Amino acid sequence: MPEAKKAARLASLAQQVADLSSSPLYEYRQKNSYHAVFGEGDPDADILFIGEAPGKQEAQQGRPFVGASGRMLDKLLESIGLAREEVYITNVVKDRPPENRDPQPEEIALYAPFLAQQIAIIQPQVIATLGRFAMQFVLAHFDVAAGDPKISQVHGRPFAAEAEYGRVTLLPLYHPAVALYNQTQRQTLFDDFEALSHLI
Ligand code: URA
Repeated sequence: MPEAKKAARLASLAQQVADLSSSPLYEYRQKNSYHAVFGEGDPDADILFIGEAPGKQEAQQGRPFVGASGRMLDKLLESIGLAREEVYITNVVKDRPPENRDPQPEEIALYAPFLAQQIAIIQPQVIATLGRFAMQFVLAHFDVAAGDPKISQVHGRPFAAEAEYGRVTLLPLYHPAVALYNQTQRQTLFDDFEALSHLI
């Protein structure tokens, strides 16, 4: 699919998310003058990063990973010579859950079709998940790694999967937020990004 068509289809999907008044998080979004956070980056990216859900700063700006976790993500990308503009970054849940609580199963289920369509439009070679919620969604979506593996067991380990557009490699990573308070996991994340750089 030509890049302009991908961009147009993503824009129309973003509008649907913005209009999603059936979301249990819609009222909280409106009350706080927050924005939905659809995702951003290269519509034709080789790598798609998927996080959990927007935090406060993300919801205020309508952009993914712009707070402390985002600055860490930028450093990780930089460590393998990538800029944000060269990848695509999104989340499983597109609205901020109150007080940064974990997303609930019905919220994940509501936003899942939008994420599935983002994957089908962008057609990335590699999907790197950030944190446990994105890992669980993506492994189940592509029907690999049965048995609900723990992120501590599978981070940095690529899984081959079949998308409707062809082969895709899934790479579970820790969430960048863990690197803010745990030095060991910080190093692990940098090592796993190094592994990511060899997949493309
Ligand atoms: N954490 C996430 O999972 N996503 C964001 O966009 C920001 C912080």
